[in-house]
Order: sequence, then structure tokens, then C-alpha cells
Amino acid sequence: MNKGTCFFPKRFLWGTATSSHQVEGNNTNNNWYIWDQTPGKIIGGATAGLACDWWNGRWKEDLAHAVEDGQNIHRLSIEWSRIEPQPGKWDESALLAYREMLKGILALGLKPMVTLHHFTDPIWIYERGGWENEETAAHFAQYVEKTVGALHDLVDLWVTINEPTVYVFSGYMSGEFPPGKNDAKAAFQVLRNLVRGHACAYHTIHRIQPTAMVGFAKNFRAMAPARKWFLPDRWVNTFSYNSFNNAFADALINGKLKFAMWKDILPEAIATQDFIGVNYYTRDLIKFRLFKPKEIFQERFFDPAAEMSETGFIATEPVGFYESLQWAQRYKLPIYITENGVEDSRDSVRPHYLTTHLFQVWKAIQTGMDIRGYIHWSQVDNFEWERAWTQRFGLWELDVATQKRTRRPSVDIYRDICMSNELPLELIQLHAPELLEPRPR
Ligand code: FCB
Repeated sequence: MNKGTCFFPKRFLWGTATSSHQVEGNNTNNNWYIWDQTPGKIIGGATAGLACDWWNGRWKEDLAHAVEDGQNIHRLSIEWSRIEPQPGKWDESALLAYREMLKGILALGLKPMVTLHHFTDPIWIYERGGWENEETAAHFAQYVEKTVGALHDLVDLWVTINEPTVYVFSGYMSGEFPPGKNDAKAAFQVLRNLVRGHACAYHTIHRIQPTAMVGFAKNFRAMAPARKWFLPDRWVNTFSYNSFNNAFADALINGKLKFAMWKDILPEAIATQDFIGVNYYTRDLIKFRLFKPKEIFQERFFDPAAEMSETGFIATEPVGFYESLQWAQRYKLPIYITENGVEDSRDSVRPHYLTTHLFQVWKAIQTGMDIRGYIHWSQVDNFEWERAWTQRFGLWELDVATQKRTRRPSVDIYRDICMSNELPLELIQLHAPELLEPRPR
């Protein structure tokens, strides 16, 4: 045995994640297309355009790379606006296209994990008030029924909704996502309907496919009071932690939804997870700010001592990753890491980020946590929402104009890990030697 090497459990899943709007291209029938077309909403006036051209078949090239590089799972999403372009009108050819894609993914030797809602809504849903509308959960359930009905022989691992709290905070608090509101009451209403949507989807999937594993992907944000001794910092931190990290996930355990001053009981949501999906990127410090009511009386910033990503979006905070896994464990369900990564066009931070974060996963597994897989964001650079093409999360670089893919050095690092099912000692020595110091930072 190679002393010091971090071994992962047998059958551990290694992969990458993508989402429909970010990679498919020509998604012109959803709320993000409207956002794209609205001046001032997307950085530099960019659009998703062809994205990574997956709808024309380029997924084959990207996922062939994934398999050559030792991956065995891929997380992708289905675009509701393609399946149901108009209310109740189903596009069978879109379903067929996803069937072909999923068959191809299986033929490559990848296990598909399929997300049913990854930030995008059909325009007709958006025009009826999106998830503020009580009826959206039932429409979502019909789409889920149709989609899972058509694909259940190819998929047994479903993510209902990606990062519901990011959808809520970005769309209804900070306003960076459509519909660009700052309205706490509407935020609660949307969160409540997303819980209802998740619950309907969970029951629908299990009716069609009793053995399916169904969960959602939680964006866990690690956070801490900037001044531990200052009570108001602790209050705003606890408030944010509860509303951002706990509200949605707890409702899926006990049916009780609590968000700011609002509460509701949603019994249909009780016990509607078979696994917990964790998306983790970074950690904030939080300060109380009396004159920032729109920002919920707080200022958030990164630890000035932390290593920063290229566009300042992410601070390397691997211990926060461990916290996210500890948090996930309290749900007593298998854990999948459904996203983790960093934007880095020059690949100067990624090797360190990847190594230190995977070390935390390994450590968590040593303490007995049931972690089934690690899915990196992302396989190839893709359209990063309102930040568009300024953020490069891909292991592979994408030239958006020519669609040419180029390997970044991290491909080889991740390949070594996936192929050996280990975090080899040599990689730690090379990219994160501080982990071998007597007291790692
Ligand atoms: C997550 C999103 C994903 C991607 C990464 C960088 O919040 O789920 O689509 O944008 O961030």
C-alpha cells in the first residue's frame, strides 16, 4: 500500500456536471433567453448563443473526453422549455433527442444523474408569474411526469431542482437572475412553491419508478460572523444560515418551512429525499450593517487571508466544504457532491482548489460519512448566467467562437484521481503540500 495516499471507497462515482441552458445552445424559449435579450442584465451584453453546442451533438465530444479521463458519472439537466414549449403541448422530438443523448451517455459508460430544473423556466411559466404563481408546482409535476415517463428506463438518479435557494435569493433578493426583484415576501412565496414543486416531483417520480433515487441539489454556503464577539454579527449570520442553508432542506424532513418572518406547513414535503446533493463553492464572513435593509442588514466578504479565484467570485475555503458535508449528514441520507469547482481560465488556482477540496471529502469519508460520489463543475467552460463567458469553470477550455476545446492541466490531475480512485500522495505534495504539514491551515 502506498503510504499516505487517500483511498476512496469502491464504486465511488467521479464525474462532472453541466446544465441545459449553459451548454445546449439556442435555448430561446426560457426566462434566461428573455434576460439575455434585456439590456444591462448580462455582463458585457453577452448571450448564451450556441453555448457549448450540445443540442447539435457536441456533448459526444465532451463526454468522450470525460470517459477517456476516467469519469463514470455525468450530471446533466433537461430543459423544461424544450419538452413543453407551450402549456400542455409536448415536443416529442425533444424527448427523443434527450433519449438519444442518455443512451449515448450510457453507451459511453457514464451513469447519468438528471436534473429536472436548473434555474430555467419556460417563457409561458415566466409570463404567468413564474414560481410566485401557486399553479406552477402542478405544471412542473406534469412536466416531470411526462419526462420521467419517457426516460425512466435510462435514468435512476434524479435531481428535482437545482439550488432552490440560489434561484430565490438571486431572482427575488439580489435581483441578478430573472425576474430581478428585491421583494422578501415574493421570495418566501417562491421558496414555498419550490418546496411544493419538489414534493410533487418526488411523489410523481416514485409513482412511475419506485426504485429511483430522488433528491435536490443544495448550494451550501459556509458562513461565519466576521466579529465573533459582536452579537449583531452573530444574529445576521444565524439568520442567513437558517434561511439560506436550512429552510428548504428542513422542509423536506418535517414539512415545516420557515423563512424570515414567514412560516408554513407543507405536509406533502415530509421525507421527500432519498439522497442529499451538495453543491459547495466557498465561504463568507458576515457583518451587521444597520443601513443595508435591502441586503438584509449585512455585508458579506471573503476572509482577506484566503486565496482568491480569478474574478474574485470564490475564496478557496476547503474547511467550509467539510462543514457542508457535516451539515448534509444530519439528514441521515446518502450524500452526493453534485457540484464543486472554481472559475480559473489560466488554471492557476484549480489544482490547489481541487486537491484541498478532495482532501476534505476523503477526510469526511474516513469519519464514516456515506458519500457516494464527487461531481466537479464543470467538464468544459460554459455560459455562467449573468456572468456569461467571463467565468471559466471548465476542466477543458472552450473557444466560444470556434467551439474548439483545449485541455487545461487540471484535466490530468482529475484524471489521475478518477482513474486510481485515490487522491495520490504525489498530487498532494505537488499541489497542496500544506496538507502534509503537522497543522494544516
Ligand atoms: C452554481 C450553479 C451552476 C454554475 C455554478 C458555477 O450555483 O448551479 O449552474 O453556475 O454555480
